Amino acid sequence: MSQSGHKLTSIDTLLTEEREFKPTAKFQAQANANDQEIYEKATSNPEAFWERYARELVWRKPWDKVLDWNPPDSKWFVGGKLNITESCLDVHIKTDARNKAALIWEGEPGDKRTLTYWDLYREVCRFANALKSLGVKKGDRVALYMPMIPELVIAVLSCARIGAIHSVVFGGFSAEALSERINDAEAKVLITADGGYRRGQIVQLKHDADEALKDCPSIEHVVVVKRGNFPIHFQENRDHWWHRLIDEADFNCPAEEMDSEDPLYILYTSGTTGKPKGIMHTIAGYLVGVYATTKLVFDLKPNDCYWCTADIGWVTGHSYIVYGPLSNGATQVMYEGAPNWPDPDRVWKIVENHGVTVFYTAPTAIRAFMKWGEKWTVKHDLSSLRLLGTVGEPINPEAWMWYHKHIGGEKCPIVDTWWQTETGHIMIAPLPGLITTKPGSATQPFPSIKAAILDDDGNEVEHGGGYLAILEPWPGMLRTIWGDHDRYIETYWSKWKNIYFPGDGAKIDKDSYYWILGRIDDVINVAGHRLSTMEIESALVDHNSVVESAVVGITHELKGQGIVAFVTVGGDIRTSPELVDILKAHVVKKIGALARPEQIIFAHDLPKTRSGKIMRRLLRDIASGSVLGDVTTLADPTVVEELKRKYEED
Ligand code: PRX
Repeated sequence: MSQSGHKLTSIDTLLTEEREFKPTAKFQAQANANDQEIYEKATSNPEAFWERYARELVWRKPWDKVLDWNPPDSKWFVGGKLNITESCLDVHIKTDARNKAALIWEGEPGDKRTLTYWDLYREVCRFANALKSLGVKKGDRVALYMPMIPELVIAVLSCARIGAIHSVVFGGFSAEALSERINDAEAKVLITADGGYRRGQIVQLKHDADEALKDCPSIEHVVVVKRGNFPIHFQENRDHWWHRLIDEADFNCPAEEMDSEDPLYILYTSGTTGKPKGIMHTIAGYLVGVYATTKLVFDLKPNDCYWCTADIGWVTGHSYIVYGPLSNGATQVMYEGAPNWPDPDRVWKIVENHGVTVFYTAPTAIRAFMKWGEKWTVKHDLSSLRLLGTVGEPINPEAWMWYHKHIGGEKCPIVDTWWQTETGHIMIAPLPGLITTKPGSATQPFPSIKAAILDDDGNEVEHGGGYLAILEPWPGMLRTIWGDHDRYIETYWSKWKNIYFPGDGAKIDKDSYYWILGRIDDVINVAGHRLSTMEIESALVDHNSVVESAVVGITHELKGQGIVAFVTVGGDIRTSPELVDILKAHVVKKIGALARPEQIIFAHDLPKTRSGKIMRRLLRDIASGSVLGDVTTLADPTVVEELKRKYEED
């Protein structure tokens, strides 16, 4: 059901985007995937496609069977034995990559550390032994609540080394959110830090962890990294300093032999309702999926310097900071703090200083860079960049063009990657040497992935909008929701028979390109036409005064729903009643009178989750004068309060 309660047969698609960008011959010639045949072959034999990449990884015992599909349960690389850390570490220390930088880390205050593959291997072994000394065994859950420091990568891999299941909780979450997640997973150990740095402030992780642990009976030990010189409370017998534990630990830690289908991690994701879902991934299929997608979509080469700006608290960090790049033997940059600290050019300074070649970020960050303006990008030499990526939300075509022009110097392919915590790895994205890109489109499914646009009854929509669906299993798919298999079936597999329902709207164009239209709950129904928020927002962002916008539907006597647009303008733009009229007219020109907003509210900022997604649900509450729903996942709660005031004044 769409938000308005109508049955959704399709979504009307009104915005058209004609610009196209072909891969250059030069890029194509050097690309990891440069033969169109890869698509045909993968379609005709998906299992053989994945097997090819599985063979490039380290196994203790090869699999007997690639896929066992018993809908909605899948098993991949059945009978295989492995330890994921052997593909991320041990394999590289036997090659020329041994002394190559694995992590080039920068703290927010400017401190720097570089760990080679050899260093990382040794630190992981040491900390894995430290975990063992605390009684952690295969199958135990370990919660991590940490800043973006190398110890977070080390801790994740140490868990995997001994077969413990990691559950990383984003360091920006509250004590309450942390304890809920610890309790759901019944974690035995918590790894945290005294604190971390964000916008020049200290994030009091240990303080919040102590609060959380008042109500977490399963926790036996807490390991604390000393990130700064922050005063903390230390509970004897329960709390241990990381540096003391590793001091006593051996550098040699043989990896635990695991089954392909043993759990690797749990990662909690919150929907609009209900308690967070513990998305559970298993080892082998996930590894093969992140390895192959990293190699082909990011086109990584041994001499690349890759930087994914996500936090490891989100799936993007799990798949495309930890497991994907490390299994590919990549060199990567990792940064602790805010992108605009101490100035809005921090990110570009890092790109220039380290000669970053492949850069992966989110549309929300790109829109912030646009808002801060080009004066910050021109200060730096960004010519080392050769490929750009985006993930997390639909990217408005104008934001895509800005990224292309001001960051990519009009020479870098952009890979817009659609996927989810649940899918584990990239599902729809261009292979940069093969696919012509269109601003705002995630383009084509990754080789072997079978996607479609369906209506409520499961009929395929050949051109136009509807629900995005995945028709066949894929290796990195979630296996369950931790402790609640019924909810797994209900949430993802009950809309149509044996077809995965991701919860997103999408449209498909004449070239079979996919355009993700956002969460289906955000669809607006104006006079019987179902409009995607994404298209109206993109029409607004298309105007040169606007950098970000969020639209929501409110009840309208005549039309069913009317459109309210919240709009953030560029740094030096003055808002005025005339601008309201200009923007309304602009939407009409781009999309049509149907999409004309009833109201435009200028907003200094929009309410976003801590991972940067706009929370339209709260804007709907504001626009319809309802009591605000759950605000606990908001990055900055003051933003909604200010908007509410502003809306009431208007
Ligand atoms: O709505 C889609 C949006 O983000 C959702 C998944 O969020 P999460 O599990 O937090 O994972 C984010 C990182 C993979 C999707 O259901 N989304 C993600 N990538 C895109 C996107 N929407 C449009 N285009 C994308 N490239």
